[in-house]
Order: sequence, then structure tokens, then C-alpha cells
Amino acid sequence: DHLLSARGLRCDPDQIMLTSGTLHALRIVLSAILRAGDQVWCEDPGYPAARKTFAHCGYRAVPVPVDEHGMRIAKGRIAAPSARAAYVTPSHQFPLGVQMSMPRRLELLDWAKRAGAFILEDDYDSEFRYDGAPLMSLAGIDRLQRVIYLGTFAKTLFPGLRIGYCALPERLIADVTAARAALDRFPGTLMEGAVADMLNSGAFAANLKRVRKLYREARDVLAETLEAASDGALSVPVPSQGLHLVARFDPSVDLTVAAQAKQAGGAEGWLLADTYSRTRPLPGFVLGFSGHAVPQLVASAERLARESRSALRAKSKPVRRA
Ligand SMILES: Cc1ncc(COP(=O)(O)O)c(C=O)c1O
Repeated sequence: DHLLSARGLRCDPDQIMLTSGTLHALRIVLSAILRAGDQVWCEDPGYPAARKTFAHCGYRAVPVPVDEHGMRIAKGRIAAPSARAAYVTPSHQFPLGVQMSMPRRLELLDWAKRAGAFILEDDYDSEFRYDGAPLMSLAGIDRLQRVIYLGTFAKTLFPGLRIGYCALPERLIADVTAARAALDRFPGTLMEGAVADMLNSGAFAANLKRVRKLYREARDVLAETLEAASDGALSVPVPSQGLHLVARFDPSVDLTVAAQAKQAGGAEGWLLADTYSRTRPLPGFVLGFSGHAVPQLVASAERLARESRSALRAKSKPVRRA
């Protein structure tokens, strides 16, 4: 019911498998549909943790560049026309935050159909939409034929809960269930029951409504503070969804500037450059804003902005010759 009302995804409860998070779901599902050495299209830049999972399982991740409309399907077709799967974050591209346009969604679905490939739709933060209506999920458009939908409670509740899920095309249920049985049998039922109670009682929806307001405020405070305190050295587009933002230096800035500032500023999160595979990386940071009090966020943002300015100054100082 939640998936139908929130994401336009109609599916039978038998099509849903609970896992201990997104990577666990990826691992189980792919072990049922791929063979070692198979190619998987991945967004570039993209989610480094998923790339690690693919490499660890012996699949070949093929980086496909992303623009303001999402993954560039035409590039994927050229780089690896016979890939067996594509892993995408169409609602809110990780890390850049763009929404995959409808023509690109249709192009991706068309490729998957013709190539006999599957699409792994990682819908990790759709519950946190701040402006405008989201586009229907890929799985909703496709009616769960070629798309495997991946969801998580890591953002809506908390990461330490370790509960995620996938919604599967009917034709994959038997193979995926067999793969699951060989791996860890089934998830812990205690927390699963607690989450079901939250969903059924309305407590889940009420909590989402409450934290959405807090996170919107946190997003605005972080973006404003970073831009103001860095004197414009960092540009921070405000994301319309999710729990992270990207703060970027001018593309001409050396990548070491961001690395130095992050270390000196004691910031957690990814360096933007670490999310790239083949495309030339941009200097900057990927920063989360949920779960922190506003004064703490402001202080951390000011510190990171200050260290960014000072790393920039240090880099631009002329080197003295003896
Ligand atoms: C792109 C992306 N997918 C999925 C997840 C959730 O992962 P998990 O459910 O394994 O905690 C995250 C968490 O940060 C993420 O950034």
C-alpha cells in the first residue's frame, strides 16, 4: 500500500523481499540473475558502495556518464550494449541530485527490454521530497517487468535498523528466493514486526511528516552557511529531495583542495571526486544534513568553509624559488 500510494508501484506482497539494506538486496538479486564477469551499467558519478559490491561479487561495473537529465543511455549503449543490468538512482541521482527525465526513463526501459537486461532502481530517499511532485518510479512505469525496485528504511527511520527491501518482477521470485535461502535464510523477525506496526498504525507516516520539516530547515541552513561563509568559493545548489547536498568548488580548482579542507574541517561524508569512476571529477563535497541539530550544522559548515578558503589560498600562493 505504501509503495502504491507513494511511488505508483502496484505489487503483490509476495513480490517483496526484506533484506538488511540496499547492498544486501543487490547482492542477493544479482546472484540470481548474473554470472561472474557480466557487465552492469553504473552512473558516473555514482554510489561508490554499490560499485564496491559489484566488484566484490565479480561483476564488471561499466561507468556511464550522467548529465542534467540523468544517465546518458546512448553512452551506455555504446560502451556496453550487451550489459546484463543497469544500476540507477533515477528519482534523485546520487550524488548530483538530478531527476532522470521521462524520455531517458523510457529510453532506459526500451534498452532493457531489447537487451533482455534488468534495471536496478535504487529509490533510496524518495520519501523526502521538498518541492514539486516526483516522477513515477521506473518500476511503476514498467509494472515490475524488467525493473527491480530497491527501497530502504535507512533514511526514513535510521541506518542502524538495517532493514531494506526490494520489489521483484514475478518471473524472478523463484530464483531470488532460492538465492536468499542459500545466503541467510530470512531477516530478523523482531524488528521487521516493529516496522510493520509503525506502517500499519500511521506512526511511520506521522514521523515522516515531522522529520521532513526538520530536514528541509537543515538543508537550507547548511546550504546558506556554506555559501556565505566560504565567500562564494563553494556553490551549493539546494536539492529538492533527499538528505544530502553537493558543495562544489569551481571546476578549475585542484582536487587536493577539497581533500585538505575536508580533513582539516573534520567533516564526514564523501569527497565528490570519490564518487567518480572515469568521467573527470569535480572538486567538492557530498554532505548529509539529517540527524544534526541546527547549531551543530552551522558550526560544522562554518569550519568547513573556513578550511576551504584557507586550502584555496594555500594552493594559489606562488611557489618561491631559491
Ligand atoms: C545511493 C544510496 N542507496 C542506498 C542507500 C541505503 O543503503 P542501506 O539500505 O544499505 O543502508 C544509501 C545510503 O546512504 C545511498 O546513499
